[in-house]
Amino acid sequence: MEIDGRTKICGLIGNPVEHTLSPMIHNTLAQRLGHNMRYVPLLVERDRLKEAVAGAFALNLLGLNVTVPYKSEVIANLREIDELAQNIGAVNTLVRTTDGYKGYNTDMEGLYRAMTSEGIRIGGEQIILLGAGGAARAVAYLCAVKGADKVYMLNRTWDKVQAVAAEVNRAIGRDVVMPMLLKEYSQIPAGKYLAIQGTSVGLAPHVEDVVIAEEAFYKKIHTGFDLIYSPWETKFMKMTKAHGGRAYNGLKMLLYQGIIAYELWNNVTVSEADAQMVYEKLKAHFTLAD
Ligand code: ATR
Repeated sequence: MEIDGRTKICGLIGNPVEHTLSPMIHNTLAQRLGHNMRYVPLLVERDRLKEAVAGAFALNLLGLNVTVPYKSEVIANLREIDELAQNIGAVNTLVRTTDGYKGYNTDMEGLYRAMTSEGIRIGGEQIILLGAGGAARAVAYLCAVKGADKVYMLNRTWDKVQAVAAEVNRAIGRDVVMPMLLKEYSQIPAGKYLAIQGTSVGLAPHVEDVVIAEEAFYKKIHTGFDLIYSPWETKFMKMTKAHGGRAYNGLKMLLYQGIIAYELWNNVTVSEADAQMVYEKLKAHFTLAD
């Protein structure tokens, strides 16, 4: 569809924004679904976030995605915030309302939809979660909110994991997250677990790195989900598969965080067939680049 006087604009604010795949997701969907919308990267300098959000609203932008380093800082500039995003303390999607933007965290809803689409359950499950940084903390909330039975949260640094576990348990009102050190993994009760890899270890170009290198750990995993999608197959995924588990990368999480944002902005439901079409396009980009 041609750009004309009725074209709606959405964009990504962050710094840097050059490597984003979000324009591919949103512009492909808009074209496919016949929506008169375009999505563009919008670089925002460090001290200009407030102006950027106010300016976007003044320019009638329909919505924004927010990436590093503004996912928490942007909250102070919102009119309203969704409850999950509030609990997580991070917002990646802004939806226009009459008097300002409402913030959502579609990263976590995206992870949930990605898992559901692969047949992976969280409700009632015993889960191992690696890491206690911003991403892992959000995953811990997601698991708790979606009814996980127990989350063994393993991190290199004790203070961080202990603080995150206490915070999530307090917010949820039950002891769902159990903090542990990475090296204590053998204390996790015997059984097979869903393991979510939420650290930055293994991210390209450090593709041979893995947060736990011991083979014994991977015997505990029936399904491994890495939030990383570059490389296509991380060392964590390779080791999970080598011990008979299924393994998934984070590309579907990226896909669905975008799809949920698109749905919020355009007030539509994107079909699984359309989601799959966008996924194939993203995947081609990665497998060609690898
Ligand atoms: P993000 O926002 O991507 O989660 P982050 O907040 O910097 O990034 O968190 C990075 C996570 O990766 C942390 O859990 C970190 O462990 P520490 O809390 O001990 O720092 C983990 N991490 C990074 N490098 C690591 C390494 N070499 N070994 C083990 N864990 C590592």
